[in-house]
Amino acid sequence: MVAAPLFDMIARRSLVQTLNQAAMRTLPIVLTFLLAGLLWFAAMTEATAQSSAERGQAVIEKWCRTCHLRLTDRPDPDMAPAYEEIVLRPGRTRCYFEQFLNEDHFPMTTYRLFDDEKADVVAYLMALQRAERAKGRGN
Ligand code: HEC
Repeated sequence: MVAAPLFDMIARRSLVQTLNQAAMRTLPIVLTFLLAGLLWFAAMTEATAQSSAERGQAVIEKWCRTCHLRLTDRPDPDMAPAYEEIVLRPGRTRCYFEQFLNEDHFPMTTYRLFDDEKADVVAYLMALQRAERAKGRGN
């Protein structure tokens, strides 16, 4: 029979076409899900970054305000500088602060933070640095 292979070919091609059409129909759906997933991931990362900085701020309020001034305080040479000033000093990178918090510093020797608290404090300082730089203070 001559018709059989021909019929077979037509059938196969329409199968391919059907699959193609199905793929084209599902593609937007797949892409939508992918995009939604990406957005969700971005939102979650942003949320954890925020709360880490917030926790860092809480650590600073609890342990560091005995010495470090707030920007709104009256300047006092006997007190340690405000973090808004510190983050605008040259070379104050994430790496610098991480190292600083891992070393002993007179007169800060007695202040020992847990590793997660150090990470949170650094997150806070980096957020503060971005905010201060955005205000056009410093470099
Ligand atoms: C006993 C007082 C005291 C306490 C408490 C204290 N600091 Fe300090 N801190 C200082 C002094 C003094 C300096 C040095 C001032 C300077 O660099 O001009 C300083 C400097 C710093 C610097 C700047 C380092 C640099 O090289 O720019 C950072 C960051 C810092 N402290 C973080 C902290 C954190 C975080 C805490 C709380 C866990 C804390 N400090 C608690 C006194 C203190």
